[in-house]
Amino acid sequence: MTKSDPTGRIEYLREEINRHNYLYYILDSPEISDAEYDRLMRELEGLEKQFPDLVTPDSPTQRVGAPPLEEFGTLRHTIPMISLQNAFTEEEAVEFDAKVKRFLHTADDIEYVAEPKIDGLAIELVFEKGLFTAGSTRGDGETGENVTRNLRTVKSIPLRLLKPKSGKIPERLEVRGEVYIRLSDFNKLNRRREEAGEPLFANPRNASAGSIRQLDSNITASRPLDIFCYGVGIVEGLKLSTHWETLETLKAFGFKVNPLIRRCRNIDDALRYHREIEEKREALDYEIDGVVLKVNSLRLQEELGEISRSPRWAMAYKFPPRQETTKIIDIEVGVGRTGALTPVAIMEPVVVGGVTVSRATLHNQGEINRKDVRIGDTVVVQRAGDVIPEIVMVVQSKRTLKGTPYLMPDNCPSCGAHVVKEEIVWRCPNVSCPAQVKESIRHFTSKAGMDIEGLGYKHIEQMVDKGLIKDPADLYYLTKDDILKLERFAEKSAQNIIDSIDKGRKTTLSRLIYSLGIRDVGDHTAKLLASEFGTLDSLKNVKYEDLIKIREVGPEVAKSILAFFAEDRNLKLIDKIIKGGVTYKIERATKGGPLDGKTFVFTGTLKRFSRDEAEGVVESLGGRPTSSVSKKTDYVVAGEEAGSKLDKAKELGVKVITEEEFVTLTALEI
Ligand code: IVH
Repeated sequence: MTKSDPTGRIEYLREEINRHNYLYYILDSPEISDAEYDRLMRELEGLEKQFPDLVTPDSPTQRVGAPPLEEFGTLRHTIPMISLQNAFTEEEAVEFDAKVKRFLHTADDIEYVAEPKIDGLAIELVFEKGLFTAGSTRGDGETGENVTRNLRTVKSIPLRLLKPKSGKIPERLEVRGEVYIRLSDFNKLNRRREEAGEPLFANPRNASAGSIRQLDSNITASRPLDIFCYGVGIVEGLKLSTHWETLETLKAFGFKVNPLIRRCRNIDDALRYHREIEEKREALDYEIDGVVLKVNSLRLQEELGEISRSPRWAMAYKFPPRQETTKIIDIEVGVGRTGALTPVAIMEPVVVGGVTVSRATLHNQGEINRKDVRIGDTVVVQRAGDVIPEIVMVVQSKRTLKGTPYLMPDNCPSCGAHVVKEEIVWRCPNVSCPAQVKESIRHFTSKAGMDIEGLGYKHIEQMVDKGLIKDPADLYYLTKDDILKLERFAEKSAQNIIDSIDKGRKTTLSRLIYSLGIRDVGDHTAKLLASEFGTLDSLKNVKYEDLIKIREVGPEVAKSILAFFAEDRNLKLIDKIIKGGVTYKIERATKGGPLDGKTFVFTGTLKRFSRDEAEGVVESLGGRPTSSVSKKTDYVVAGEEAGSKLDKAKELGVKVITEEEFVTLTALEI
């Protein structure tokens, strides 16, 4: 490439951007940071601006978003979903305001609506005569994937508009918004995936995108998706004059609108808002990557129109990315309670988004290979809210030492046993491995488990090393004199430990199940099991078929549970715990949505929904769709040409309702 001939560079940039688009949109597994991607895009845009003759229609600058996935049908957006121009500095934001004024030939203040820019997946929802009829992803901006079925499972999307005070329901209403996953839910989701040995989501945005673009809507339904709505497409039968009014109207119809939105009198107000939100960013339970400023008056918006596929009336004023680079000093391998070996990168401490980071999990050998992380590498680390810091990628250009690829040890770093290599997880097979014993006791006593206050890891280490305890049950047989044998314990502190062990004897079934440390069973699954089986005895004797019936228990988890109870050692441990004086409360099934516990059977042809969609509605409201009619069925929904199931329902005296009645039932309950 020479200065005068940028063809090579342009081609390179296009290829790179296309490759990253594919990784990001199709595979949901990006290799570079957003900032890095923006940089490539900006460079390409710059070159194309300088050399307009070299712009081709297939250049990545000429489209927005991802091509629709073929498996979903497509839906055309009546009004294209275009993207936003970006600003990264205060000067650029001020320049945006100046441009708006120049275009409108005015020196007057422009009123803006400022909103957090949610980092999720853009979608459009269509409501006809007040009913949710279609939903799609942004796709390439013109057409998106038809993900109606999946969006129906998002509990905060109304399936029917609430009647506003005016009583007027628009003939057609297209609503736009961002589907996202809260950080706390994201962490739980990844923890569960890690327990189940499934690949982890890189960040909440990928988890949202991956969940909405699922071919099986049951999977979508099990993901904690939420939405903030921020705009509209076509609105028929309603007059709106400002963006603020649009958002108020959306709220009145029952949509979730971000509570942090604000009307700003002028650009200075908007800049203040940006600073305020940036300060709040850390404390929010969802990811935002900037604020969006929108001219409030819809008349002015129309006058401003668009330029190169973004509106002149709006702008995304981004925050600096929460990524930093640092160096890997070492890779340590820890042994978990199930014997799983986990590599952890030890890094030169670096402040990322206000917090010092020096350790990041590398998960397993597969992740290490995928990212090709080596000791001595310079890496990009990322933090988002309270998400555990993670290594995004290696900065290959900074790899000076020709270090060798990192390989985890063949022997357990704690007891030296030969490691058993399973697909992704490598395990120490020695059940008496001190590291495993300590970790399983740590897990047993943790907050989500038996919650033994004041008993720290240091105490557990000492107790195991001194031979006072060999398993979690031994804790219940400790005496004050035993504790006094440990370093730095006196009468009072020893008594405190004994007291809190005693206090922890009264627990709940789900805590007890969780604390046993059954592979693949985290606190969420433990709660499901507790509410399904009620007692430890019935769980002990459970069969594969009973487990698999629970919606969120898959074959892997079921096998892990059976394997646990098949081991004599584990049954003995449970007996020893109970003999140690542990008692638990029996928990009733937790109440969910408005159709909680109700079973539905659909039969015949439905007019308004496909079978899958109707079943999705039931599930999203806490009910259970089933395929055959029995005395236990609560409702049979009969469409046209309903056959034998309808007969059976009548025979058994099960309540039969029409599709219309089903719509009313679900809408009434929402
Ligand atoms: S307005 C023409 N408002 O950011 C205006 N977008 O390129 C279009 N986003 O993926 C968007 N929060 O889904 C708008 N409060 C907000 C937003 C927002 C997030 C996303 C949007 C799209 C990207 C804009």
